[in-house]
Amino acid sequence: MCGIIGYIGNKKAGPILLDGLKKLEYRGYDSSGIAVIDGGVISVIKSVGMIEALDEKCSGGELLNGTVGIGHTRWATHGAPSDVNSHPHLSSDKRFAIVHNGIIENFESLRTELKSLGYKFVGETDSEVIAKLIQHLYNGNIISALRAVIDRLEGSYAVGIISADKPDTLYAIRKDNPLVVGLGNGENFIASDYTAALEHTKRFVLLDDKEIAEITATSTKFYDINGKLVKKTPYTIEWNIEEAQKGGYNHFMLKEIYEQPKALTRTLRPRISGDEIKLDKIEFDAEHLSSVERIDIIGCGSAYHAGIVGRSFIEKHCRIPVNNFLASEYIYSDPITGPKTLTIIISQSGETADTLAALKLAHSRGSKTLAVVNVVQSAIARAADDVLYTHAGPEIAVATTKGYTTQIVALYLIGLKMALKKGTITTKRYKELIRGLTKLPDKVEDMLLETEVEKIKEYAEKFYNHKCVFFMGRGTDYAASLEGALKLKEISYIHAEAYAAGELKHGTISLIEDDTLTLALVTQEKLYHKMESNIKAVKARGGTVIALASRANSKIKSCSDLLLTIPECDDDISPVLTAVQLQLFAYYVALKRGCEIDKPRNLAKSVTVE
Ligand code: F6R
Repeated sequence: MCGIIGYIGNKKAGPILLDGLKKLEYRGYDSSGIAVIDGGVISVIKSVGMIEALDEKCSGGELLNGTVGIGHTRWATHGAPSDVNSHPHLSSDKRFAIVHNGIIENFESLRTELKSLGYKFVGETDSEVIAKLIQHLYNGNIISALRAVIDRLEGSYAVGIISADKPDTLYAIRKDNPLVVGLGNGENFIASDYTAALEHTKRFVLLDDKEIAEITATSTKFYDINGKLVKKTPYTIEWNIEEAQKGGYNHFMLKEIYEQPKALTRTLRPRISGDEIKLDKIEFDAEHLSSVERIDIIGCGSAYHAGIVGRSFIEKHCRIPVNNFLASEYIYSDPITGPKTLTIIISQSGETADTLAALKLAHSRGSKTLAVVNVVQSAIARAADDVLYTHAGPEIAVATTKGYTTQIVALYLIGLKMALKKGTITTKRYKELIRGLTKLPDKVEDMLLETEVEKIKEYAEKFYNHKCVFFMGRGTDYAASLEGALKLKEISYIHAEAYAAGELKHGTISLIEDDTLTLALVTQEKLYHKMESNIKAVKARGGTVIALASRANSKIKSCSDLLLTIPECDDDISPVLTAVQLQLFAYYVALKRGCEIDKPRNLAKSVTVE
């Protein structure tokens, strides 16, 4: 999705804005642009395509003089990628420039109205109306004009604004779209996410819905919709800039796969003290817990898959029925929920529009909401009754890796804590699982050793040209297969499908022919024999099977063609380990196919529109 960076200070804005835009590339974009004020005049440079093209057009930002500016990466929604549709957009009198993330739902009626008043539009975007509307509503006081603009806009927006009339001030407004103000020393920033400004500051203030930020190089003021000053408390982000850089890896995705031992430790360590689980401020009030009859786990994409893994674990240990919902389905399903349902919302970015809408819907029907989120102070984190941060660190690659495994571990912690409170788990089993969890980071580390990864590279070399790959498993291995298939298809563009192995004979087996590749996940001891039969059925039809099993399971080798292993681990928590092998498999297949791994086609990192 689109990205915003804004700068005000005493340095040349152009290079800083360009650099910020490069940090936002991961969100997905098809054009970019910057606007800088100099001598009371706003200059704009835009370009379709990669940021390198913009970089070249403005000589690394040096071509533009001025120390105040805004920049944008656009992901086309209304109107094709083109120079006129790219941001920043100018007002007709060229006194205002704006960048916008989100969708203005009433842009057509506003456009018609403004056109009838003589305003000329140059492109087809919804965003352009904002620039024209500001000009129209401006009568010498920008804060009043922005309040009036907020009143007129419907939809979602994060907007950065500069004005030739106030060349030493940067403005921002937002509703249902993320925007933070970064606080520097003699300089300040606006950004659609922390990574764009992280090189300059770790101190941020979050702009709330329908608020206005008025920012100079040395001051920040915030107003509510009534024009009243709002006091804000800055907070510090514990991410460091190295985490948001490739640091010697060819791709962010590979770096983030290798960061998993550290990320998992960060999810686990502060929460486990001896045998006790402390979930920050989440206590699971015994009375509320005893009234909970059902748990709904909601997310999109990989977060939804993490929820499916969590479901097996929570149902098994807490003896509460758990439902998984895709957020986009949930919100239009008139869901049966209320005070007796606990809703767990999962989102790495904390900004996914459908997931946020699902949270709000569950909440409005009386359900308590608990969010499992990575990005601190994100919309979902703030809207939920309780939040458990995964602390995975910044995730830049579009395909989630450490975001996903840390979500699973967070769900395990929630499940164990609830199970102990409810008395549905024995102390012995509880302690076994705690021990298993604390060993996970080391086990992942072990799997990432070069010798282990060599085999995956070898298999990628062998199978990268396949047109279709199946993933199968039973129970929690089926849940893990869903994510394995998604990872492969999104970054390598190979058609991949996951199915519950027992379903094979109910349809999918008709697709198995000579050389069809199937990855069979076999980590559940009690289901081993069932999986053995499924593997044999695939092989009998000419298919090739790579089994993914525990190193302790020596028998599986004899019935499959090839083998990938995970270190010995408790069956209940194996999906964290299988995920790592499947991520590496997808990565090396995509690498071999020459795909754009960090930014797969048509995909964006954070889906802030429906
Ligand atoms: C796949 C992937 C997506 C996200 C989904 C939800 O690799 O990253 O499927 O999992 O868009 O995003 P969040 O977790 O930010 O809500």
